[in-house]
Amino acid sequence: MKKYKICVIEGDGIGKEVIPETIRVLKELGDFEFIKEHAGYECFKRCNSAIPDRTIETAKECDAILFGAVTTPKPKELEKKLYKSPILTLRKELDLYANVRPINNFEDIDFVIIRENTEGLYTNKEYYDDKKEIAIAERIISKKGSSRIIKFAFDYALKHHRKKVSCIHKANILRITDGLFLKIFNETAEKYKKFNINSDNYLIDATAMYIIKNPKMFDVMVTTNLFGDILSDEASGLLGGLGLAPSANIGDKHGLFEPVHGSAPDIAGKGIANPIASILSASMMLYYLGMKEKSKLLRDSVKSVLKKGYKTPDLGGNLKTTELTDKIIEEIKNK
Ligand code: NAD
Ligand code: IPM
Ligand code: MN
Repeated sequence: MKKYKICVIEGDGIGKEVIPETIRVLKELGDFEFIKEHAGYECFKRCNSAIPDRTIETAKECDAILFGAVTTPKPKELEKKLYKSPILTLRKELDLYANVRPINNFEDIDFVIIRENTEGLYTNKEYYDDKKEIAIAERIISKKGSSRIIKFAFDYALKHHRKKVSCIHKANILRITDGLFLKIFNETAEKYKKFNINSDNYLIDATAMYIIKNPKMFDVMVTTNLFGDILSDEASGLLGGLGLAPSANIGDKHGLFEPVHGSAPDIAGKGIANPIASILSASMMLYYLGMKEKSKLLRDSVKSVLKKGYKTPDLGGNLKTTELTDKIIEEIKNK
């Protein structure tokens, strides 16, 4: 079997705690070459760059990237030096246009948020007009960007035997930008009718309520960048928190896998971070690399461990990050 090369970026805070544990798990499942690179706030303070060129080069050369989390500097520190967000840089440089965020509690809740990952309000086109005294952010919704993410969502539904794709938007107010996104969605939906994939659409504000009240109404959701960012953190609350929410950033040439959560400064350094979001992201990575059985074995092992009541403090348990990982490894060995 091919020995896959994995670029590993731990980052800051709990990224440095959950990624080493994820690697420990991956070592049980295959023979990988892990290439460690730097990025994040500590890296920024050390070498004046939050993401050195070398990190980007290695990321491009590897078969997949495993990313922990980074801390964003305070605005004051940003004034002095040029800071580039490592994760946004990687999404852009590697053209990782689809952010896949499954919301699954291993029981009755099971839907997937597919978030456009390269444009919307994330194009760094923000400025202050001194004369008018107004701060302006441009929100870019392109035909190309919308078409490819919407097609990705329908193809994802087909591939994963899902039944419905919902478009989440604010086209009642953002008539031109979200109007375009919704129009492309409706055109694409027509083409997938013959594959028995249904479609519907909801406004973002109502969706925020439906996610809490009736999450089972969703199957695959497709939405623009910031809406997907917010909805995915909200939806992780259905699972018990960010400690259980994995993600995959997918492009035509590269794949980057990371927990949805950030560096969690409030618990960093205590050894109590939940490693499951990161470990489930690794399971998504195994699937992406074609190791489908190993990917499922890993998911099933996490499921069994949770079912047996082994938990970190965020879920009401008392296990440390490393102890929970030990339980997952035991489960893998017994399966
Ligand atoms: P966060 O996701 O780091 O934490 C939010 C809450 O969830 C905290 O209470 C935290 O303790 C909890 N939490 C998150 N992950 C957990 C885990 N694995 N186990 C247990 N509890 C967990 O969000 P934040 O506090 O708003 O942001 C902290 C920093 O992280 C900021 O600088 C932010 O910019 C950055 N951030 C980075 C990324 C990334 O690198 N991809 C993502 C989100 C936020
Ligand atoms: C995420 C994060 C990032 C985002 C930040 C850290 C740039 O919140 O991956 O959800 O906003 O996309
Ligand atoms: Mn986020």
